[in-house]
Amino acid sequence: MPEITLAQGQAHIRMGSSIGQPLTRWEGVLKTTGTARFAADQHQAGMVYACLAVSSIARGRVTSLDVAAARAHPGVIEVMTPANAPALALHPDAKHHPFMFRLDLLQSDAVRFANQPIAVVIAQTLEAATEGAALLAPRYEEQPARTGLDSATPFTPPFIGAGSPGAESHGDIEAGFAAASVRIEVEYDTPAQYHNPMEPHAIVAAWDGDRLSIDTPSQGMAMAQQRIAGLFGISPENIHIRSPFLGGGFGCKGMISGPQILGIMAARLVGRPVKLVLRREQMFGPVGHRAPTRQTLHLGADADGQLTALIHHARTATSTFDDFIEPAANASHSLYASPAIRTTHDAVRIDTGTPLFMRAPGEAPGSAALESAIDEMALACGMDPLAFRLKNYADVAPMTGKPFSSKALRACYQQGGERFGWAARPTAPRQMRDANGMLVGWGMGTAVFPALMFPAQAAAVLRRDGSGVVEIGAHDMGQGAWTALAQIAADALGLDRAHLEFRSGSSDLPDAGIAGGSAHTASAGSAIHGAGADVIAKLAALAMGDEASPLFGAGNAGVIARGGRLHRRDDEARSETYGEILARAGLEEIAGRGAVAPDQAAQAAYAMQAHGAVFAEVTVDPDFGQIRVTRLVGAFAAGTVINPRMVRSQYLGGMIWGVSFALHEHAAMDKRSGRTMNANFAEYHVPVNADVPSIEAILVDEHDEHVNALGVKGVGEIGITGTVGAIANAVWHATGVRVRSFPITLEQVMGL
Ligand code: MOS
Repeated sequence: MPEITLAQGQAHIRMGSSIGQPLTRWEGVLKTTGTARFAADQHQAGMVYACLAVSSIARGRVTSLDVAAARAHPGVIEVMTPANAPALALHPDAKHHPFMFRLDLLQSDAVRFANQPIAVVIAQTLEAATEGAALLAPRYEEQPARTGLDSATPFTPPFIGAGSPGAESHGDIEAGFAAASVRIEVEYDTPAQYHNPMEPHAIVAAWDGDRLSIDTPSQGMAMAQQRIAGLFGISPENIHIRSPFLGGGFGCKGMISGPQILGIMAARLVGRPVKLVLRREQMFGPVGHRAPTRQTLHLGADADGQLTALIHHARTATSTFDDFIEPAANASHSLYASPAIRTTHDAVRIDTGTPLFMRAPGEAPGSAALESAIDEMALACGMDPLAFRLKNYADVAPMTGKPFSSKALRACYQQGGERFGWAARPTAPRQMRDANGMLVGWGMGTAVFPALMFPAQAAAVLRRDGSGVVEIGAHDMGQGAWTALAQIAADALGLDRAHLEFRSGSSDLPDAGIAGGSAHTASAGSAIHGAGADVIAKLAALAMGDEASPLFGAGNAGVIARGGRLHRRDDEARSETYGEILARAGLEEIAGRGAVAPDQAAQAAYAMQAHGAVFAEVTVDPDFGQIRVTRLVGAFAAGTVINPRMVRSQYLGGMIWGVSFALHEHAAMDKRSGRTMNANFAEYHVPVNADVPSIEAILVDEHDEHVNALGVKGVGEIGITGTVGAIANAVWHATGVRVRSFPITLEQVMGL
């Protein structure tokens, strides 16, 4: 049985497994029994409740709020508006780097998007705060909302995504098209989508002088500390964030959001601990989203089906007051060996909350379009879609010519295709029916996601009693980071599970970087590996210099740490326990640290990506158009597998989000008001169990010597990529209708 204790919001996990074991999550029992305390479950003495009042218009200004009515309501303590909001040390619109997003913190009466916070009501109870907010009866001076990709003049952004150039190219595009005998130009639309983790943003904030203690879900505690420190003019060390559990994040908890800061401001205003929890509809605006895209792909190929040129242009939308540009076209940088590739982006400014990183930012919408276009091109060339992809397989990175640090995509195609039965697929559409007369279609898509690393640090201690501790302020957003990182820690310290304590989920531990970009295991895991190596090296130095040790003089032959003992590498029978070494040295414990950063030399030399191949079967009702995904098989290669159970779970989760993108998710915008019309879980559709009857993920072996010391690539987001295109292509194969607008819905294919 796992042994877990929680103290001060920190997780202390004792476990003793090692890399490669299919362990279940250590916190799973806590979550399934309701014992795990999420931010909104926290309660502090003297705590009061805050409720946001949000704008019902998308553009204009607030001309009046009935603060008196709200204040007069029983239980209401205070109403925070631009008139009395605590002064901040940094303007919420200051922006010093691309990762610093402008926030709406009641700095003025201006309304820049629907659901923007316009006041915060603080009361003795949640009910009183909610009722008080309803009494504010805001009046507005409203201006027409700009919505949609055609409502403004597009501009060319200076950078996109996390800071990459908006336009890139290689090769001679004109020559490529001149050499083409087959050309297609196709346009795809993807809608706005909202992250919608099950747990909304929530915060319990308490001030003690200029010290701040908060419970809030975070994918990046150190960055949140920095942002809060800047806004309130206090030192980051004065801010303690506890985030042991997240009920999902998908990117929207990567940066601290405006509503979380408003909770901190409310606590300062009333001088008491404050709890603020967003309502589901308030998640549609101030905490980020995935922007809509319109993508144009222009492909040329020669008579043999070899690509000669590829242009991918993506238009997207961003807010009127900040920049986040969905880097959708960059999906075309990495997969196909076209001698000429050009990617470009532009954007329009609309009256929306600023978009943000969300579930495979760039790659998800970009690969939906690219993988659909590749399917269309394969058909135009008269080729099977898998044969076409193999014909255009990139043995080196298409844009740069760099070798891949590792790439097992051929094996993914082979294993996934075999498992799915792809070879039996008829090339023409509308050839297959099931026993109920439903049209059946098979489609495929290639999955790809960059293998990223962020700076991270960890600390490790070995104690005389034979136990060890690893500390890292890592983030478990549901992906299983605690368990996977503790597995790495056990191996790094050479300890059995019973003797390792793993502390995580709190900002007073070493900075684990951000749990984003599918890079947390690679980054935090490498830091832990480094901390383990550091402390073991120190311990070994003690032993090797001590004549009383069996390891004396092991020198260059070195030592192996395993099972709480150091062994001579050249004679493993000669060993002793960590405790014996420390006792003789008169030490109670010995400590080490690890720090990693992206390896610039390796990144300059190699292209680093995880890959996969996704195969989908759908049925389509020929009369009513209802689309069902009946089978999904994904085969993925992402380097070292720390925990196969959780890696598989990540792939399955990603593929389900792919189903969601292909068939369900759509934030419907009211063009007149600029409001999201389906800002709730009844009408904003995501897949449920019944939407995915059979789903399989194959873990393809891959060994990578270059990505990091552990050989780990990310697995969190890649499952979304490839899947969307695979389903769209399967819908075409079932019906013969090419739907180029996501999500694919029944009215687009009914009555065929
Ligand atoms: Mo993710 S969108 O990198 O949290």
